[in-house]
Amino acid sequence: MNFIESGKSLGARVEGLDLSVPLTDAQFVQLEQALGKYGVLSYPQQTLTSQQLKQFSERFGKLEVNVANMYQESGLPEVMILSNKVENGKPLGLSDAGQDWHTDMSYSKMIAFTNVLYGLEIPHRDGEPLGNTEFCNMHAAYDDLPESLKTKLAGMSITHNFEKFWEKMRREKGQRPPLTDAQRAAKPPVSHPIFMKHPITGKTVLYANPGYSMRINELPEAESDDILEFLFEHQLQAKYQYRHRWSVGDVLMWDNMGTLHNAVADYRPDEHRYIKRCQVMANRYFENSPA
Ligand code: OGA
Ligand code: MN
Repeated sequence: MNFIESGKSLGARVEGLDLSVPLTDAQFVQLEQALGKYGVLSYPQQTLTSQQLKQFSERFGKLEVNVANMYQESGLPEVMILSNKVENGKPLGLSDAGQDWHTDMSYSKMIAFTNVLYGLEIPHRDGEPLGNTEFCNMHAAYDDLPESLKTKLAGMSITHNFEKFWEKMRREKGQRPPLTDAQRAAKPPVSHPIFMKHPITGKTVLYANPGYSMRINELPEAESDDILEFLFEHQLQAKYQYRHRWSVGDVLMWDNMGTLHNAVADYRPDEHRYIKRCQVMANRYFENSPA
């Protein structure tokens, strides 16, 4: 396989790999290292059954069945559907997934390692792809923090809450129902270190995101609010960004420990997007949780 670097802060394209064929151990190690280094990998022109997508994803760790997503491949609950398509009045997938900056599952005691998305229908307008997925590099964001802030925040932790992003989507998109008590109870707020040693690169990353991060636990509320606001602005700077421009048949995979992402909502309901997705947890790196 060949890695073609994007030339941006993140991202590489992997050529010469057919993901329908099980990975060798050597290939797995190469991809794992590349995920740490590039943060985002894309594999063009793949042809996969849902079962094969699941098998490839499973190689990287335990798969999560999302508590709040009822759009699953029939018989394969680990394969979620992200789509704005509607058939016979019924939505085929979650239509507003990830449409603001966030890190998947930072609200979970066991955090997420990687996501594997397989693009089957990608909207285009005037020859340009719509619904791109954007990423930010949290290795670089940490490195560039003022030394005084690195020292001050070292050893501190952040509370993350699933409901923060859910409620924001409810307010802004008006499509999601309120969380049920059972869903809320299944996802209580959790704390994780604000700076995390990345298990693949061994380097420090900033583990905060505007989607789910609520509070720096060791600071008074007002100071926590100010610093979080600074961190959110800092981590989203253009110099840390990379944008994946989708083509049909792409498999896109990213490391959630070292990146943030955002699904760009620039397409209309009649411009169809249909993506299959698996969520891989970070259990291979952590016993119970990173903290
Ligand atoms: C996700 C997500 C991005 C996209 O799957 O976690 O945020 O572009 N999706 O669909
Ligand atoms: Mn996401």
